Amino acid sequence: MVSLKAKVGAMTFDKPGMVASGIMDETGPSMVRMLDCGAGAVVSKSVGLEPNAGHANPCFMETEGGMVNAMGLPNPGIELFEEEMKVAVPHGRIVGSIYGAGPDDFRTLAGKMEDYGACTVELNLSCPHAKGYGMEVGTDPAMVKAIVSAVKSAVSIPVWAKLTPNTHILPDIGRAVQDAGGDAVVAINTLKAMVISPEFARPILSNKFGGLSGKALKPVGVRAVYDLRTVLDIPIVGVGGISTWKDAAEYIMAGASAFQIGSAVLTEGPGVFDTINCGLERFMEEYGYGSISDMEGAAHE
Ligand code: DHB
Repeated sequence: MVSLKAKVGAMTFDKPGMVASGIMDETGPSMVRMLDCGAGAVVSKSVGLEPNAGHANPCFMETEGGMVNAMGLPNPGIELFEEEMKVAVPHGRIVGSIYGAGPDDFRTLAGKMEDYGACTVELNLSCPHAKGYGMEVGTDPAMVKAIVSAVKSAVSIPVWAKLTPNTHILPDIGRAVQDAGGDAVVAINTLKAMVISPEFARPILSNKFGGLSGKALKPVGVRAVYDLRTVLDIPIVGVGGISTWKDAAEYIMAGASAFQIGSAVLTEGPGVFDTINCGLERFMEEYGYGSISDMEGAAHE
């Protein structure tokens, strides 16, 4: 019998796949539904200090091998989000994703997420298109260090930092998270992208550019996880374009301890977790891997 349990530092999950931030995780009931579908945890939509309406439509567009979105971090603000957490937390592990402009915002938000019962806090240091937030703070190693240190001093739950692929200094950013005491990195967020309508001669998204997710992102994410594994000692959670058990296995063999699924919840449906879990189990039995950690980093050896 193989075990699908995943261990990310001190935190254990019954199943290795989590719902990535931004999909089916804006409300308590949608988070519960995803836990019921075989997700080991759900990462909430990123929440900020104040309510935020997000960008005007169109904010989402399908493209070859994926989708491009610029939702604009819509969320009800951290105070109201408590109501969603009250519904979801009794049903399983909820990772609270937060975004802010600097250490003080992140410290306050992380404290609230801990109070609401989040098992872990995930710092969005990587949204590719939010003025003053996301990758604008997450591509400066000194700022990343200051944010992670501030959050670590404020909460006792694990602190994960979600990183952007839109940089050539990803290893430096990973090291900044580790040096500040971060418990894990989550790699990767979306790639900055644009879709243009030839008929209208304009970018389609109201924000002009957004983040590319889905299948097209997978090799970029696998490479990022592989690189990070060579420089970091803290665990890595892999995310980006996973829709099959093979994709998940690639991330684990690159060095991930667990994985997250975003776009494939839309393209394959919420059953994707059970399908991937069954596929992984069969593969592990056939190839003699007793556990996810047996497989972790196998591509490096
Ligand atoms: C949004 C946030 C992200 O972190 C991302 O990768 C893509 C979109 C958003 O809310 O717009």
